[in-house]
Amino acid sequence: SIDDELRWDGELTVTRHDRETGTTFVIRIDSTRLGPASGGTRAAHYPSIGHALADAGKLSGAMTLKMAVSDLPMGGGKSVIALPAPRNRIDSATWSRILDIHAENIDKLEGNYWTGPDVNTNSSDMDQLSRTTKYVFGRSVDNGGAGSSAHATALGVFEAMKATARRRGLGTLDGRKVLVQGLGAVGGDVVRLAAQAGARLLVADTDPQRLEAASLAGHTIVPADEVLRTSCDLFAPCAMGGVIDSAAAASIPTLAVAGAANNILTDAAAGEVLRSRGVLCAPDFVANAGGAFHLVGREVLGWNEDDVVERTRGIGRTLDEVYSLSEERGITTEAAALLLARTRLSPASTTAAAT
Ligand code: NAI
Ligand code: PHE
Repeated sequence: SIDDELRWDGELTVTRHDRETGTTFVIRIDSTRLGPASGGTRAAHYPSIGHALADAGKLSGAMTLKMAVSDLPMGGGKSVIALPAPRNRIDSATWSRILDIHAENIDKLEGNYWTGPDVNTNSSDMDQLSRTTKYVFGRSVDNGGAGSSAHATALGVFEAMKATARRRGLGTLDGRKVLVQGLGAVGGDVVRLAAQAGARLLVADTDPQRLEAASLAGHTIVPADEVLRTSCDLFAPCAMGGVIDSAAAASIPTLAVAGAANNILTDAAAGEVLRSRGVLCAPDFVANAGGAFHLVGREVLGWNEDDVVERTRGIGRTLDEVYSLSEERGITTEAAALLLARTRLSPASTTAAAT
């Protein structure tokens, strides 16, 4: 219920409704402990405002952890635009009005929250937001921004896949069966990188055109509703979050999980089940941080493209640290990554951006 969703321990929830388009706007700031809150703008058709609030809360919490574990001087936040219909049924005039209102809301937060692209928003949407507010990452390159974060995210996910396969005793990806769910901006690139590394690709998407292209490239198509029953060495969820609940964790026929989607596991219990079965799972807020390295690195920290690549490749080392901690303490990989992030977020930490 809305009551439950508002009993949230983040720093701030902002909402607004636009009667003309029937759109509800949510911005949630989870934490500004390490710097201004940052996280993308997601647009989607939610069953209720409660669902939109819940999604924004979970996603902004994941951003806090992603920034902390990645040593980036930012906090965590997220915007959710609850559309009156699926994104592909919103006409361009309506979308433009929606973006203008969203930009106004962001501007009122005066830099406590910086947005960027996420599911259903892209660099040209960021360009439009930037006409009203400057608190925007990921404008197009022509417009002075860092452009799409998808390539860096995919590179980081690929590093995570390699580190996870190695730690699970699978060796390299060469000859391994890798199942990629979602062939979008990130998943498409992940497939390309994994194929170059010699993996045998199984792919799923709900978009027939993307499937056709994948099939032409020689990959094996898996029906979208059979993904969780398809046997593979490594499963890479690169579509939406919440794909593995405890029931799926108990049965999914894979040895390892590493993907781009935010909040892959529905809860901590799902992580426990995976651990009990020996399925090694890369915490998503570690694995998918390449996009944050790209946006914050290029636009805040003055990094060049090589710096972004170097830091993104470091995701493999961070995961090794997470896996060692998980083994030492006998805890899930998610709990180990949380420990690493929380060490940095604790008031005693001397690495906070404020120092
Ligand atoms: P996208 O929208 O470009 O691609 C998503 C793809 O998943 C689409 O091809 C869509 O048709 C497909 N899809 C949707 N529902 C599906 C289902 N039930 N089964 C199979 N396929 C399905 O999104 P993008 O940018 O590639 O992001 C993918 C995921 O990675 C998202 O969860 C996003 O939050 C996360 N992520 C993205 C980052 C970025 O830099 N783009 C950074 C960090 C996380
Ligand atoms: N939405 C992406 C993510 O979840 C990229 C992003 C990173 C957007 C940082 C804004 C800030 O990581």
